[in-house]
Amino acid sequence: MTPAQTLAAAPREDQFEPTVYHEQKSAQGSALDIRDFNLWYGAKQALHDNTLDMQKGMVTALIGPSGCGKSTLLRSLNRMNDLVDGLRISGQVLVDGFDIYGPGVDVIALRKRMGMVFQKPNPFAMSIYDNVTYPLRVDGITKKSILDDTVERALRAAALWDEAKDRLKDSALGMSGGQQQRLCIARAVASDPEVLLMDEPCSALDPIATAKIENLITELRGQYTIVIVTHSMSQAARVSDNTAFMYLGHIVEYGATETVFTNPKVVRTNDYVTGRFG
Ligand SMILES: Nc1ncnc2c1ncn2[C@@H]1O[C@H](COP(=O)(O)OP(=O)(O)OP(=O)(O)O)[C@@H](O)[C@H]1O
Ligand SMILES: [Mg+2]
Repeated sequence: MTPAQTLAAAPREDQFEPTVYHEQKSAQGSALDIRDFNLWYGAKQALHDNTLDMQKGMVTALIGPSGCGKSTLLRSLNRMNDLVDGLRISGQVLVDGFDIYGPGVDVIALRKRMGMVFQKPNPFAMSIYDNVTYPLRVDGITKKSILDDTVERALRAAALWDEAKDRLKDSALGMSGGQQQRLCIARAVASDPEVLLMDEPCSALDPIATAKIENLITELRGQYTIVIVTHSMSQAARVSDNTAFMYLGHIVEYGATETVFTNPKVVRTNDYVTGRFG
């Protein structure tokens, strides 16, 4: 082959085959169906024809190199991108079959169904108790017994009750980073969401705090549909049922996590999970 032919034969970075699917299905069906979803920031297209579903009660990991669109896709699931200037989308995101970008959608109500946990713990500058009850108080719930019950339920769900029960009136800002992140998960859980969206929830944490969050994700699995963005392949492998590998805004492969990491169906996925690029 001449050098010119070699060049012509090499796949271009922006040429993509259709997504390869081999995801595990939940007996309960899908919680989120993303269909032909495209997103542009101004003139720049950040997501291309993303089609995948997140199964109820399962953990779905989004992986891929920096800038591939993981956070953009995650934020599209509860319309956190709405306020970005020049944002345009096409396609659908269905929650229980209902298009969240359709007319007349109550975005505040939607966000309550889709709790979000960010990269950096973001507790409010108030007590632990007030952090957890914040979503209820915003809804006008003031009855002490309801608030007390919610605090215990949410802190237990976030594996934080034992550490926090004797300091509920203390400022949340006095907690360790790992405790703050579990508090943010408790706050997300307090409004009884169906889906938990997590964008690199452990990237600001040490290994012990990370292990606690990973255990927590495993415990919350089943009860909630969880979508987690992570740069750690070992984390994705440990906590998720299905993994989507994204590259330049495309879903390259979406499948059972074990297969994605041990026997991927697409060369580009294999190159990424074996550390050839990233
Ligand atoms: N608010 C924004 N306005 C314009 N462009 C944006 C905005 N947010 C993200 N982008 C661009 O969209 C693309 C996808 O970004 P995104 O943050 O979703 O990537 P990511 O996979 O989460 O990356 P990382 O792993 O670094 O967090 C990038 O090219 C980024 O520069
Ligand atoms: Mg990101």
